[in-house]
Amino acid sequence: MIPEVNAPHPYLSRTRSFTRRGDRMPPRHQVAYDDLAPRYVIDVPRDGGETTVDPAYTLDVADVFGRTAPLVVEVGPGSGDALLAGAAARPDWDFLALEVWRPGIGQALMHLREQQPPNIAFVEADAAVALQTMLPEASVAEVWTFFPDPWPKRKHLRRRIVQPEFAGTVCRVLAPGGIWRLATDIEAYATHMRRVLDADERFELVSTERASLRPVTRFESKGVAVGRTITDLAYRRR
Ligand SMILES: C[S@@+](CC[C@H](N)C(=O)[O-])C[C@H]1O[C@@H](n2cnc3c(N)ncnc32)[C@H](O)[C@@H]1O
Repeated sequence: MIPEVNAPHPYLSRTRSFTRRGDRMPPRHQVAYDDLAPRYVIDVPRDGGETTVDPAYTLDVADVFGRTAPLVVEVGPGSGDALLAGAAARPDWDFLALEVWRPGIGQALMHLREQQPPNIAFVEADAAVALQTMLPEASVAEVWTFFPDPWPKRKHLRRRIVQPEFAGTVCRVLAPGGIWRLATDIEAYATHMRRVLDADERFELVSTERASLRPVTRFESKGVAVGRTITDLAYRRR
C-alpha cells in the first residue's frame, strides 16, 4: 500500500478563528507570565501544535481548583478584563479561560498579580478544538464569548468562531439549562450569531440585555468610541 504522504494534519488544515501573532510581550507582561504561569496556566498535553490539546486528555477541573463549583469557560478572554471581573464578583464559581494568544494571557496575569484569585485558570489552546474533548459533557454552567474576532471580509467569514459546528461544541460541554453569553460590537457579526443560534434548536434565546457580570472592557470602549452599538446575547441550552 502506498503510504499517504503530505496528508494535512486535521487541526492544521481546518479553518481557524485566529492567526498566530507571535509570543513577544512587553517586559512587565513577560515577568508576570514567567512568575505566574506555573500556577495559573495548565500544562496540558499537546497534539499536533502549540494550541491543540491531546484529544485523549480530559482536564480534571475539581483537581485544578481544589473544589467542585459552577464552571464558567471563557473563550478568548484577551487581556482578561471580563474574566477577572467575573472571578472577583463570583468567588463561589470557577473560571477557565481558553486563549490562543500568549501575550494576552501575560497581560491578564499581570492584572491578577496583586489579588491572585484562586478561582481562575488558563489553558493556552484553540477553544474550537479543545472543547470537543478536553472537558466532560454537560460539565459547564456558562460559556462566554465576548467580542470574538469579527473577520469582516467576505472571504474570511468562515473564520468567525461562532459557526454551527462550534455551537455543537459549546452545546456538548454546557449542562442542560447552561448559558452561552455572547457580545459583539460588530452589527454584521451580531446578525450572524443570531442566524446561527436561532436556527439551532438545542438553544433558546433568553436575553439580549447586557450580562450583569460583563464589565466595560478596553476592547468594548474602543468600539463605542467609534460609534458602534454593542449587542449582548444569552442562549440557554435546552
Ligand atoms: C477581539 S479579542 C477580544 C478579547 C476579549 N474577549 C475582550 O472582550 O476584550 C478576541 C480574542 O479571542 C482569541 N481567540 C480567537 N480565536 C480563538 C480560539 N479559537 N480559541 C481561543 N481564543 C481565541 C484571540 O486571541 C483574542 O484574544
